[in-house]
Amino acid sequence: MKLPFSFPGVQRAPDPSDELPASPPLECAQAEIERWNAEWIEYLKQEWEVQLTPYTDYPRKPSLPASPLAMLGLEIREGWPISLYADADSLEGRRVMEMGCGCGNLGKLLGRYVESYLGTDYSTLALKIARLVSPSNCSYVHVADRAGLSPFFNTIDTVVGRYFWIHQNFQLAGWNLDFLALFLKPGGRLYADFYWPNPALEQAVVFTPDHALSRAYPSATFRYTAEDVQRLIAGRPFRVLREEISPEMQRRYTVLERLPGP
Ligand SMILES: C[S@@+](CC[C@H](N)C(=O)[O-])C[C@H]1O[C@@H](n2cnc3c(N)ncnc32)[C@H](O)[C@@H]1O
Repeated sequence: MKLPFSFPGVQRAPDPSDELPASPPLECAQAEIERWNAEWIEYLKQEWEVQLTPYTDYPRKPSLPASPLAMLGLEIREGWPISLYADADSLEGRRVMEMGCGCGNLGKLLGRYVESYLGTDYSTLALKIARLVSPSNCSYVHVADRAGLSPFFNTIDTVVGRYFWIHQNFQLAGWNLDFLALFLKPGGRLYADFYWPNPALEQAVVFTPDHALSRAYPSATFRYTAEDVQRLIAGRPFRVLREEISPEMQRRYTVLERLPGP
């Protein structure tokens, strides 16, 4: 299905009946779990093979490129660029966490480089698959499982995200930062893949970050300017270390550092 074109920056007229309710991760409601489980059942109709393949089927361990833009093209599974923006030294031997880990497609490949990998997600179904396909240094815990997550508080060196921050509006992104601040050690890094449209490429549905989540377009992307990112971290224990635009990937890759303090 071809989605209607919405030029970056154009705010659609607010329609209260289109608003999809959301809640902070630790208070994630049953309805959200069911919505994301239903999404995964749909994805799996097409993607079951890739998602259900265990890490042992991909034995390669190429060395990690030093440049994060080169990292995007790393092929642990031959012919499949990993599409992750991260510095090699933030992964190798580190305690890494991924928010929105889905079926562990990233964790099952990165597990061989990192000390430990914690994946968290809304979907209980995706987490069950992730546990089956990943090596033993990967743990997968639901976003609302406080008892399961609390042993990881203040232990994480690096938070990564792939196909994640592009779908988070301002309210959700703020809740996510508050949640992730619990896990990151001071000086730890968070790699965020915000959407930044390339006008030369066709766009699907793109909202500005203050737009509510949409029932009609649950896979819409939210475009973040550098100012939106500054507004997002204001009053939160993070600072921007670096940002890099990738026109090919249509991303504003932003590296945040966890500051000391609550
Ligand atoms: C497009 S999938 C990406 C999966 C994975 N990152 C990968 O690269 O294979 C997005 C995932 O994020 C999860 N998700 C979306 N918003 C979330 C949130 N606020 N908290 C936790 N998980 C979320 C969804 O359930 C889904 O599994």
